[in-house]
Amino acid sequence: MNEKIDLLIHNIGQLCIIPAHDHGPQRGHDLGDLGILTGAAVAVDNGVIIAVGDGVTLRRTYSGTVTLDAGGRLVTPGLVDPHTHVIWAGERSGEFEQRIAGATYQEIMAAGGGINRTMQATRAADLNTLIEQSKRRLNTMLAHGTTTVECKTGYGLNTATEIAMLNAIALLDMEHPVDLVATFLGAHAVPPEYADDIDGYVDLVIDEMLPAVAAWWDENWPDILFCDVFCEVGAFDLAQTRRILEAAQSYGMALKVHVDEFEPLGGTRLAAELGAVSADHIVVTSDEDIRALGQSDTIAVSLPPTPFGLAHTAYTPAQRFLDADAALAIATDCNPGTGWNENMQFVMALATRYLRLTPAQALAAATINAAYAIRRGDLVGSLETGKQADLVIWDVPGYQHLSYRFGANMVQTVIKKGQVVYGAQWGGTL
Ligand code: NIG
Ligand code: FE
Repeated sequence: MNEKIDLLIHNIGQLCIIPAHDHGPQRGHDLGDLGILTGAAVAVDNGVIIAVGDGVTLRRTYSGTVTLDAGGRLVTPGLVDPHTHVIWAGERSGEFEQRIAGATYQEIMAAGGGINRTMQATRAADLNTLIEQSKRRLNTMLAHGTTTVECKTGYGLNTATEIAMLNAIALLDMEHPVDLVATFLGAHAVPPEYADDIDGYVDLVIDEMLPAVAAWWDENWPDILFCDVFCEVGAFDLAQTRRILEAAQSYGMALKVHVDEFEPLGGTRLAAELGAVSADHIVVTSDEDIRALGQSDTIAVSLPPTPFGLAHTAYTPAQRFLDADAALAIATDCNPGTGWNENMQFVMALATRYLRLTPAQALAAATINAAYAIRRGDLVGSLETGKQADLVIWDVPGYQHLSYRFGANMVQTVIKKGQVVYGAQWGGTL
């Protein structure tokens, strides 16, 4: 007897389930458990995976309204990008030229460029412009196999524009196939009007922005809302970071923190202490902080496109994080300054070379662990029964290719909630 379902994908040469471990991420050196099946099929109904297994058996059991022949290719969960600044207006190619000629990111920031330049363009843009510019980047992400994306504010740096950025996230989440996860990053930089009064800006974030964001959340956003802070020399110190994060927690927001990108300030330990969902960047993290993270549930999110984009040589010391039993995820950090890159395939290519992850570890860090880094591990990031049917059919025979090759798109078909939303064979987004 054949049960009628919405979608059956069969003739899968290699299928990577990438299971959660004890309903959590793959920790430490357990990272890289791909749960590989060969000659497999996936059955989908109502946007949810209802069976994964042997192709012959599943074809006998189910008949799909839509049947996709994967042609012996690789199938994985949709990639999850757990750290992006993808909502912005304008661009900063001039700063890239300055950096390549020798100026540092911090020098450009101190001279009024950097985040503050994008803030000016974002404040000046109307909501429609902001949405249209950001949508193009989301299209690129989807075309490269990313089906869930975390998006931060942080280019408004005043209450009105920070809320406008949240509105852009909410509207794009509604109209775009990619699922968005929202993060308030009012403490991304000190805007010029507070250059001599950083604590005054911290007070503004706590006393004016956080209440406004909490009210916005109540009315406009049904999901979890994160609060993030850029804890760094030239941005916010450890005490200011703690004040903001504790205030955000009092509104029920979950926490993420930008830590140890350039200078080690103890932000990783703070993230672990406060029970943050993730600590991100983690390039110059001390051994003591790595130990603290390894003993916590906070996920270590590494962003290899950032040192690459800055032409720096130091990357996350990933092996030390794995030795400490931390759960490691990877992300693009897509932003107009340090790294304009939408492509998680490229992040895997960098992570294998500069973090020394195996191709299997890089893929698990870009799927199941990335999903836990945005508290979506129960919904996406693996191809387990009951999860949302977000899948990618890759035009390659095995998972190693996703890290081995770089620079060209390996996606054949992207399926979101059981619907084909991108197909390279038809020339792009449907
Ligand atoms: O994660 N570190 C802070 N924020 C971004 C850079 C944002 C920008 O330069 O516009 C990052 O690298
Ligand atoms: Fe960032």
